Amino acid sequence: MEDNKMGKPLTQFKRKDCIAMKIAIGNDHVGVELKRHLIEYLTQKGHEVINFGTDETASNHYPIYAQRVADAVVGGQCERGILICGTGLGISIAANKVRGVRCALCSEPVSCRLSREHNNANIVAMGARMIGPVMAEAIVDTFLTTDFLGGRHGMRVDMITAIENGEKLS
Ligand code: RB5
Repeated sequence: MEDNKMGKPLTQFKRKDCIAMKIAIGNDHVGVELKRHLIEYLTQKGHEVINFGTDETASNHYPIYAQRVADAVVGGQCERGILICGTGLGISIAANKVRGVRCALCSEPVSCRLSREHNNANIVAMGARMIGPVMAEAIVDTFLTTDFLGGRHGMRVDMITAIENGEKLS
């Protein structure tokens, strides 16, 4: 086994964020630049990133890209999704209309961590007019490396699914 300078096996330093994932990314015209930045950032980390967004900066419609990414995640083509529009609002609202999507709009890593731990978020949305590229990197790192805690949180996520299925909660 290969050793580092401190004599410890390198495998001890393997971090969770080294696990490669298949990620769907989508954006409207406002999110083109941040999307390109994140594709490069995540690809360098070994992830496979599929671009469902636009590369045109002419005005277009975020629900189209929200639906494409949502379908890829819910349909199992990709493990997680990333969505970007100007605020992150429209694209997250649209994605959450697709059955099985739990899309969390995040502007910092703490709420992103909790969206994974408590809500089992499967898509993260960000606003390209709200945050910069370094904050976006921290958010996606957190999103891809934080596990769902289950337990009482699992019961609540099941209740969200029940709402999707038209059930009345009591
Ligand atoms: C586009 O101007 C803008 O409305 C869109 O990017 C997003 O912020 C919508 O929620």
